[in-house]
Amino acid sequence: MVDESELLSVPVRLGGGRSYRVEIGAGALSRLGAVARAGLRREARKVALVSNPRVFGLYGARAAAALRGAGFEVAHWLMPEGERFKTLRTAGRALDFFSEFGLERSDGVVALGGGVVGDLAGFAAAVYLRGVSFVQAPTTLLSQIDSSVGGKTGVNTGAGKNLVGAFHQPSAVVVDTDTLGTLPRRELTAGWCEAVKQGAVGDRRLFERTKKFLAGEARGARDVRGGANVKESGAGRGEELARIIAAQCAFKARIVAGDEREELARDDARSRKVLNFGHTVGHALEAVTGYRRFRHGEAVGYGCLAAGEISRRLGLLDESELESLRGAVALAGRLPEAGDLDAETIRRALRKDKKAVGGSVRWVLLESLGRARVVDEGEVPGRVVLASIRAALRTPRTLPSDS
Ligand code: NAD
Ligand code: GLY
Repeated sequence: MVDESELLSVPVRLGGGRSYRVEIGAGALSRLGAVARAGLRREARKVALVSNPRVFGLYGARAAAALRGAGFEVAHWLMPEGERFKTLRTAGRALDFFSEFGLERSDGVVALGGGVVGDLAGFAAAVYLRGVSFVQAPTTLLSQIDSSVGGKTGVNTGAGKNLVGAFHQPSAVVVDTDTLGTLPRRELTAGWCEAVKQGAVGDRRLFERTKKFLAGEARGARDVRGGANVKESGAGRGEELARIIAAQCAFKARIVAGDEREELARDDARSRKVLNFGHTVGHALEAVTGYRRFRHGEAVGYGCLAAGEISRRLGLLDESELESLRGAVALAGRLPEAGDLDAETIRRALRKDKKAVGGSVRWVLLESLGRARVVDEGEVPGRVVLASIRAALRTPRTLPSDS
């Protein structure tokens, strides 16, 4: 078991006894039992471990052993893999499993997997016996820096994504950075796009630091391809990766602490709403391509570029800042082709976004890197939206060779 002192620890400070910590580092899964023992209720005896076959095959034995080592009776339930199974029907099956296992109000649920597993298991925990405690053990980059922190849980319905859900904060989050070693490249790209987004909307230093890390990764990959002697060891990069993830979690924790339930009336630069930067066009891109072409984070990458283009055209953002944003998205990884998509079709799809309030889309735009502004649809002319979408979809998807 790794020692507690080897992990980074980020507090999420909330009212009403809902505070918790995010423990981050290589091998952190070995501490899952100890963390669950400290985070769940004192009387907890049983833990329902929720995962999917792929993730459970890779990390289930380790997670279950850690939980059993801390004295829990553990049973696992695996949801089928994929976003299309993040439904009420699947949640119903999870709830049946909790009942059959005899899970009581004082017991706990552990979610082991990406955002799909985390959202569904968290939702099931939120409604089972009107709420049982749960622990997040996220295994994708996106879930480690974003979805496991903040207590948004939910499922999709036939009408759209995440339309049914609950705010239910976890009792703890355990981020094992080693799990990223088996993550497919596209999933990493999707996570890095969300990381770029988080820095861009609220923390310039986080933005620059994330970009610098990504530039180092890109250089490392080129050196390996070119046969160069790579000086920095994998371990050194691994530690910096853990520090970046911790900084990303700390940023998310600050936003969540200030606006836990994303109040409708809030639209200031520190409101939770700013985390939707890139999501208006991102969701539209996902919808017009039938949720098949893009990973969510990849669509958000294009969405960030489109919102950046709008910001520049409205005179809010300097061209140099936009260029820096373009560079960061390029460093996140190669995005799927999008140049063939029709901007007008995407613009029409924006109107169906569930983030609309009073029938109107609220754009999250940038005044600078690190400072967002929420703007009403009426202040953004349709021709600006169209031109911005076109420009974003044309943005080169690969890095210039000298970057
Ligand atoms: P995901 O959960 O679908 O995981 C991506 C893929 O990676 C899956 O095939 C999964 O089985 C696999 N996988 C997971 N961990 C792995 C590992 N370590 N090694 C190999 N394969 C692994 O995708 P995601 O990007 O993690 O999450 C997306 C979901 O998160 C969406 O449903 C989205 O709505 C939700 N989300 C929620 C919030 C929130 O605040 N609750 C925020 C952002 C996104
Ligand atoms: N992912 C956006 C939020 O948690 O609010």
